[in-house]
Parts: sequence; C-alpha cells; structure tokens
Amino acid sequence: MDKLIIHGGRPLNGEVQVSGAKNAALPLMFATLLARGCHKLTNLPRLRDIRTAEKLLVELGAGSETVPGGLHIHTNGLAHYEAPYELVRTMRASVLVLGPLLARHGRARVSLPGGCAIGARPINLHLKGLEAMGAQITLDHGYVEARAQRLKGARIYFDLPTVGGTENLMMAATLAKGTTVIENAAREPEILDLAQALCSMGARIEGAGTDTVVIEGVDELQPMNYRVMADRIEAGTYLIGGALTHGRVHVLGARPEHLEALLSKLEEAGARIDVDSEGIIIEAVDEIRAVNIRTQPHPGFPTDMQAQFMAMMSCANGTSVISETVFENRFMHVCELQRMGADISIDGHTATVKGVRRLFGAPVMATDLRASACLVLAGLAADNTTELSRIYHLDRGYENLEKKFRSLGADIERVPE
Ligand code: EPZ
Repeated sequence: MDKLIIHGGRPLNGEVQVSGAKNAALPLMFATLLARGCHKLTNLPRLRDIRTAEKLLVELGAGSETVPGGLHIHTNGLAHYEAPYELVRTMRASVLVLGPLLARHGRARVSLPGGCAIGARPINLHLKGLEAMGAQITLDHGYVEARAQRLKGARIYFDLPTVGGTENLMMAATLAKGTTVIENAAREPEILDLAQALCSMGARIEGAGTDTVVIEGVDELQPMNYRVMADRIEAGTYLIGGALTHGRVHVLGARPEHLEALLSKLEEAGARIDVDSEGIIIEAVDEIRAVNIRTQPHPGFPTDMQAQFMAMMSCANGTSVISETVFENRFMHVCELQRMGADISIDGHTATVKGVRRLFGAPVMATDLRASACLVLAGLAADNTTELSRIYHLDRGYENLEKKFRSLGADIERVPE
C-alpha cells in the first residue's frame, strides 16, 4: 500500500485541469447494458472504481477496449446477469446494473452491497421502484434476485431523493412499456448527464435535473458516443485547496452552475471567486472566516464536499457548525483532524469546529474517499509533515491527485508504505 508525505504551509498557485466525473461515469458505463453495439465513452477518469465497473461489465459478457481518454464498450455478447459479491462489496455503485439488466435481460442477480464506512446505505427505494414497474424481487443469500417479463411504466414516489435510485429507475424505465414518472427524484448534475446520454441513445426523458422525471419507454436503444461531464467534487476539492493555503488557483473545466452552494459558502468565508470561459478562479484575499454549512441533496451543499470544507473550517477564524443530513456516519475524518490539532466537537450529526491558528502535521489514516481528501487538504495547510496512510481510498475517486497538487506548488509525494 502507498502513503502520501505532505510538507504543508505552502500556498497553492496556478491552474489545474479537472478530470471526468466518477459519479457520472459509473452510471453511464452501466447504461451501456441497455443497448447492443459499440459504445464510446470519453473523458473517463483513470480511477479504481472505473476499472472495477469495467471488470463487472466484462463479467456480464461485455467487451471493453481502452482508447485514449476513454473506453469502447461492446455489448452484443451479454451472456450473464449476475453482479457478484466480490465486485459489489468493493464498489457499491455496482447496484446500478439492476435497472439496465432487468430492462434488457428481464433478469438480474445482484449482491446486496452491504454498508460502508459512511453509512448503512440501503437500496430499499431502488427495489421498491422496480417492483412498482412489475419486477418480482426476492432476496436470496445476500443477493437480490429480480425478474420481469417486460417492465411497465409506473408512477414512483421516492421517500427521499436518492441519487442511485433515480439513476437505476431512469435507466430501467427507458425500455419499459409505457410511461414512468419519478417523483421526488434526485436533482444532481450527474443525473442530468446520464439522462442526456440516454437520450443520445434514443431514450425519451423529460425533467432530469428536476424533482420530477418523466420517461416514455421505447422498444430499443442505440449505442452511445458520449463525453463524461467534469467532476464537480474534484473541482471543489481544488478550490478549497487554493483557499485554505491562501493561494490563487484556476480550476480548468469546473462549471459554476454545478457548484453554486459551495461557491456561495466559499465567498461567505472570505474567498474571492471569479469565473471565466475555462473554469473557476479562487483567491484567498484575506483570512478565512468560519461559516456554517448543512449538507443537503442537490442543489443544497453537497455531502461529498463536507469533509473537505471541514478541513478549511479547522483553520478558519471563528467557530463553524457543520451538519451532515445525508449520511449517518460521515464524520470519520474528525478524529484524524483532531490529531492534527483541530478543535472539533461532535453532537450527533452536528460538528462544532473552533478554528485554530495553525494545524500541525501528523501521521493520519484515510477511512473513506472524501475523508482522505480532507486530510490531504489539512496536510497542505498544516506546518511540518503529514503522512497519510491507506490512500487506496483516495485512488477510488481522485485521478493523479498528488501530481495535480504538485503542479500547484504543493510539496507532496506518494511513497510505498
Ligand atoms: C451517490 O451515492 C454518490 N455515489 C455518493 O458519492 C454521494 O454522496 C450520494 O450520491 C449523495 O449525493 C455515486 O454516485 C457513485 P443516495 P448514492 O442514494 O446513490 C439513503 C462519493 O464520495 N437511501 O442519494 O448511494 C442512503 O442511505 C460518494 O463520491 C436509502 O435510505 O446516494 C443515504 O442516507 C459517497 N434507501 C441517502 O439516502 C435507498 O434505497 C442518500 O443516498 C437509497 C438511499
């Protein structure tokens, strides 16, 4: 296993290119199961999770060919419909094969993903929606067994706006008989990106990106030729890097309309934000002030930016209150930040962060993807040296993170543990 060695206290300056979005690429890769032919995906990030998704597609009988910046996925030979436990437990987004396999094959056997570091993360709403569309769902030795002659359109109301649930049902509905309405749908930009790709395949979808999505089923879809959107969470991570090291960073490819809540909070904290045709520029013109945040489904403050923002609040001027409303256990980074001198107290889903003048470097451990990013940011802001272990978590969602930070002037290197 590798670790990162960070010598902090240096301001980040310069420009950094955002990669393709992991959380858009994963559903897009599984959407290829909906149509026969050769699908061409570009701007795919080179990440562990993308490789896992590719492995799962091959397991199901698809062919894949790496091309510059992406993948060609051939789906004529789909022969299986099982997503095995050993793949699903390493990447829970594998459950997104359920909708496409049911729609295309009329059958799917997918391991229940089980919990993860940040929460139980059930898929009950995915299954309830598929049953409403006529699927017979049974649970068998930790697997979801799903069958359907042909899915039929239904009106589905989500008790909460689940991103994966909206994606699974939207994909399933593209080949169903009749029209499906998803109410209280998630509104994340990645869902709009998926809908645009599905429409490019011949699907009929209205309202993606709003809380009501209407899908009129068709009999057949065509392969996609699609460029994945930029990763807004990666972009937000580099923006915070520029602010908390008191530098000036130009994040190329970042789209302000995907990050309105974060940008508003960064300005409230005293950072200066400019937007140009290439992306977003952040500059910490004076001290960073403490601000309160409360994570919410999009367009609220993204839960995937909560840990990174807390790193910045740990060395801000004042006290901030951070509420995590989406996941039940997404404060795993707090005890590691405390080892770096952060003054944080937790009461249930709320963390109170009293900014300190300076964090100090320490050996710390990554526990999940965004907690890892938080600790890298804290290390960049801290004085002396931070050693971050278990960075395989980081490699799930950030492409060339240490190279990108080094290009901004950070003293950070990856060494074998
Ligand atoms: C997606 O996860 C993202 N992952 C997550 O990003 C992100 O944090 C999350 O959406 C919220 O924005 C991918 O896109 C691959 P949800 P997902 O279904 O779809 C509960 C990262 O760091 N829920 O919107 O699993 C669930 O327990 C990752 O990149 C049910 O109760 O999120 C959670 O509390 C982490 N029943 C809440 O809803 C269900 O059937 C939101 O989950 C489904 C979800």
